Amino acid sequence: MNWTGKTVYITGGSSGIGMETARQLLDRGARVALFARGEKNLAAVAEAFRQRPESPEVFYEVMDVSSWKSVEAAVKKTAQSFGPPDVVLNSAGVGKVGYFETISSENFDKVMAINVSGTRNVAEATLPYLKKKKGTLALVSSSAGFIPVFGYSAYGTSKFAVYALAEILRYEMKRFDVTVCLFCPSEVETPMLEAERLVIPKETRALKDFAGVISVDRAVLSLIQGIEKGTYMIIPGFRTKILYWLRRVVPGPIYRGIADVTAMLGASRK
Ligand SMILES: NC(=O)c1ccc[n+]([C@@H]2O[C@H](COP(=O)([O-])OP(=O)(O)OC[C@H]3O[C@@H](n4cnc5c(N)ncnc54)[C@H](OP(=O)(O)O)[C@@H]3O)[C@@H](O)[C@H]2O)c1
Repeated sequence: MNWTGKTVYITGGSSGIGMETARQLLDRGARVALFARGEKNLAAVAEAFRQRPESPEVFYEVMDVSSWKSVEAAVKKTAQSFGPPDVVLNSAGVGKVGYFETISSENFDKVMAINVSGTRNVAEATLPYLKKKKGTLALVSSSAGFIPVFGYSAYGTSKFAVYALAEILRYEMKRFDVTVCLFCPSEVETPMLEAERLVIPKETRALKDFAGVISVDRAVLSLIQGIEKGTYMIIPGFRTKILYWLRRVVPGPIYRGIADVTAMLGASRK
């Protein structure tokens, strides 16, 4: 795929994976529209990008992905003012880690509203444009969307749902020549991960250590290369690829036994 002149919509574009994707795609000559809830951060990120020597085309619009009305209005306005998208990346998402007993019904619902309904809302609002352009819809799940992780009763449930939604959209969008990609990283160095480190249970830490951490620029490079090739399942990092494969070939009882022992050893860590 040649990115020059391509219009890319990025939700969660003011931070972490979304912001880094915008940076790397601007390097490749794309035009980017950024979306998030916080206008101040969005404006600051857009302004910093516009200061680049090549004066790239950068647009931003406030959007709360959990609200259909907000997504519909922001996408409509952006399509009219900046142009319809060739590629959409839904990177907006929130984390939540902790023992099940500590995650209230309100917090559970919030994670589901942003991560699951948010993905659905962005898909509904942008697919009419992607169908016309035979474009690409890239969704973001996680390795926690194919491996159950201790402490992720809200986050993991939401990312398994995104995984399922992406699988279904992949089939359905073939009729329109729209490519659907699903990005499933393990830990990526972003503000979300920094916040999680402050509260992560020891059991979760022990399980997540299997996959390791990768830098945001490396994760995003693999996302972009995956989109360029039209790869459906984009998994950055060798260790996460191994985990994906192991989860499929190791029988459930053995896999669960290993996970239980790892969590138990994690709990006994000082
Ligand atoms: N970092 C990791 O280790 C990791 C691993 C696997 C998967 N992921 C996934 O990757 C995606 C990006 O994560 P990140 O690490 O880049 O997180 P991040 O640095 O915290 O960035 C999240 C972005 O999403 C936006 N956002 C949050 N809620 C939103 C909402 N309701 N509507 C619109 N925008 C919203 C945030 O801006 P506002 O708060 O201003 O709205 C921000 O721009 C998430 O889906 C996450 O689950 C991350």
